[in-house]
Formats: sequence, structure tokens, C-alpha cells
Amino acid sequence: MISVVRGMRDLFGPELRAWQRAEEVFRTTSASFGYEELRTPILEHTELFARGVGQETDIVGKEMYSFEDRGGDSVTLRPEMTAAIVRAAIEHNFVRHSPTTRIWYAGPQFRYERPQKGRYRQFHQYGAECLGSPHPEADVEIIQLAYSVLQTIGVTKFTLEVNTLGSTTSRAAYREALVTYLRANVERLSEDSQRRLERNPLRVLDSKDEQDKPVIAEAPKLVDYLDVESRQHFESVRLMLDVAGIPYVHNPLLVRGLDYYCHTVFEFTTTELGTQNAIGGGGRYDPLFALIGGTDTPAVGFSLGVERVMMLLEQERGEWGAEKGIDVFAIAIGDAARLPLRLISLRLRRQGYSVVEDLQRRSVKAQMRDADRHGARYTITMGDDELAQGNVVIKNMATGEQQSVADTNVEQFLTRP
Ligand code: HAM
Repeated sequence: MISVVRGMRDLFGPELRAWQRAEEVFRTTSASFGYEELRTPILEHTELFARGVGQETDIVGKEMYSFEDRGGDSVTLRPEMTAAIVRAAIEHNFVRHSPTTRIWYAGPQFRYERPQKGRYRQFHQYGAECLGSPHPEADVEIIQLAYSVLQTIGVTKFTLEVNTLGSTTSRAAYREALVTYLRANVERLSEDSQRRLERNPLRVLDSKDEQDKPVIAEAPKLVDYLDVESRQHFESVRLMLDVAGIPYVHNPLLVRGLDYYCHTVFEFTTTELGTQNAIGGGGRYDPLFALIGGTDTPAVGFSLGVERVMMLLEQERGEWGAEKGIDVFAIAIGDAARLPLRLISLRLRRQGYSVVEDLQRRSVKAQMRDADRHGARYTITMGDDELAQGNVVIKNMATGEQQSVADTNVEQFLTRP
């Protein structure tokens, strides 16, 4: 037997229908904030992520699905969307046409991580990017959009953590101080953090290893290295979150795993899903446009991990949520009624009703059971007698009520849900 690739999964049934409802929320909530969808290819040039996400990050260093295509170009299954969105924005000059460009997206991402609960090699993100504004109100708009989506989907057991990395200059000054301190304490660090110290020192701060905790506790604090502008930016973000009534905690150790961030960073975390506790995250990434060859353009965005959001939803609800059944199940009794009933089904579908017909030529009883399985609100039945009289029998499945009506008149007896 050939099974699904490790770390990837099939989506179907009630879970898929819950996803589709969530996707509807992505669409409508994004639109309510004026965001437009952008679809980019799943494959990009490897160089895009190497430059955009950063050579030293875990993603680029060890998690990418990269290969040479038949023409010898190195391409990569996208591990995230932000670099791809920025590539497209540069390529199509979005920001010149519209100084604030608001984009949302949803789709599969690929990271070669060790699979475990809530962590897959193909997973899905929904996210949004606000391009062109350097101001804190853009950061807050992005957080507000993410928060509204989570609320509308119906998850509640999460915390919004925010932090600032400061401007590129204050971040660099801090990085230097941190590296000096960590080098002096290198023996006390876990092996992982020793490796990170050389490649991506800020990541040592969000190490979960107990051994690192005392070293981190005494480390220089980023807030002490913030310039005035960075402080003001962060203060404004916090003030506007307060005004918007969005609860958050300030986590001074939150740094995020990608290289392109500055100023505001944030994460939505939960204690309900075990070690994979981030259901989404994002932040400001003013350096990214220049990194991948565009003109300097300030930008901020987020992505939610759809699998994790849906796991949280199922956990909070104890189920996938209410299923919407079909409108009509059409039951033919005997061969003669089959064709005329099919014509009625077609007519009803043209009017927007969902109609399912039996394709197994089974008994009435079996067809009734099938109607139940489909959650049909009505059955319409036609046998030889009905056919002769030009009638069908409509049964309301909720009340059990039945009536015989003219076959030209069926829709008058069907209420919309
Ligand atoms: P990220 O933190 O790498 O950020 O990913 C965002 C979310 O994707 C995570 O919080 C998590 O829920 C989900 N996720 C990541 N890896 C996996 C995995 N292996 N399995 C399941 N879910 C996963 C970004 O990707 C940035 N592009 C976010 C951003 C947008 N920043 C600015 N704009």
C-alpha cells in the first residue's frame, strides 16, 4: 500500500467542512478590513527565501524542500508567504499604484520539520500583509485583523503576546551586547543555544531549555537598547491595542524565528495544544523589501497556522461544529419515475437548492436512510402512481409531515434554510 507522505495529511469530511467555514471567515473578515487576496505560486526561487527569511534561520538552514528543476534552477516549496508576497509586490509595483497595499492569502506551506502533534511538513497558513506604512496604526490594524478572525472562527483560549525589537540600529546595538554577554557565559548554555549564539543569537532568548533560563534571566534587556523612536512606536502600538480593547501581554523575550523583523513582533499562543503553542505570529519587517531587491518599503503582517487554529477550535468545542445538510433527497420508486424525477432535481438545482439523487437503485427504505445521512431537509418521492397523476410526495424530514403536490409546483413547498 502507498500511504500519504510523512508529515502530510488528507483533509475530508466534517473536518474539511469546518475548514471551509474558517476559509469563509478569512475571506469575509479580510474584505471587511479592505484586504485583497493574492495567490502566488507554491514554488519560488530558493534565493528568495535564502535572502528574505535569512540564511541563519532554522527554516532556511534545515527545513526547506529545495530541489533542482529539470532546467537546473534551484527552486523551493514555499516555507512561508511573506517573502513571496513581497516578491510579487515588487514585481507588480503594487506599492507605487497604491501607497498602502493590503493583501491577504491562504494556502499550503512546506517545512521539513520533525512531525508531531500540531507540526506538519505540509501545513496551511492564512495571513495578511500591510505594505507601505511605517506607522504603528498599521501594526495595530494587522493585529486587529488577526484577532477578529480568531474571534469570528470562535476560538477563545489564546493569548496575544507582543514585544518590540526596535529599529534596525537599536536591534543591532542590542545584538552586539547580547553576543558579548552570551560568549562570556557560553559554558552555561545548552548545546542548541551555543549553536544559535553564533548563527542567530536573538533566538537564544526564546529557548525552552531549562538550562538556558538562568543565563537568559541575567542577559542584557532589549528595552534598555531602544532608541526614542522605537520606544514611541511601541508605546503607540500598546495604547491603540488598549483602546481597541484587545487584551495582550508584553513578553520581552519574544523575538520570533525569522530574520526580517524590526519594531513590533507578536504571537498568538495557547496552552491547550502542548509544545506547539503558537497558533500564529507576525510583526513589522521594514528591511525585507531591500533584502530581496526592492525599494525600501515599510511593512507589517501576520500568519495563522490553520491546522493549529482548527485543533484549538475542535478542542474548545469538543466537535467540528454544526453541519449543514442538503435541501432535498430525491427518491425514485421503480424505473419509470427515475427520469422525470431527475428533471425535477435539475430544475430545483437551477433555483439554488442542493439536491442529491440515489445512484444505487436501492429500496425506498435504503434511500430514506441515505437521505438521513445527507442531512436532507426534505425528500421528494415519485413512484408509478405519482407519475401517472403528475405528483410527487414531499416529506419534511424535521416534522415528518408528508403531502402530495403537483410536480410542477414542488418549489412552493420548500422553505429556504
Ligand atoms: P511563523 O511563525 O514561521 O511566521 O509561522 C506562522 C504560524 O504558522 C505559526 O505560528 C504556526 O501556527 C504555523 N506553523 C509554522 N510551522 C508549522 C508546522 N510545521 N506545522 C503546522 N503549523 C506551522 C511566518 O511564517 C511569517 N511569515 C508570519 C508573518 C507574516 N510575519 C509577517 N507577516
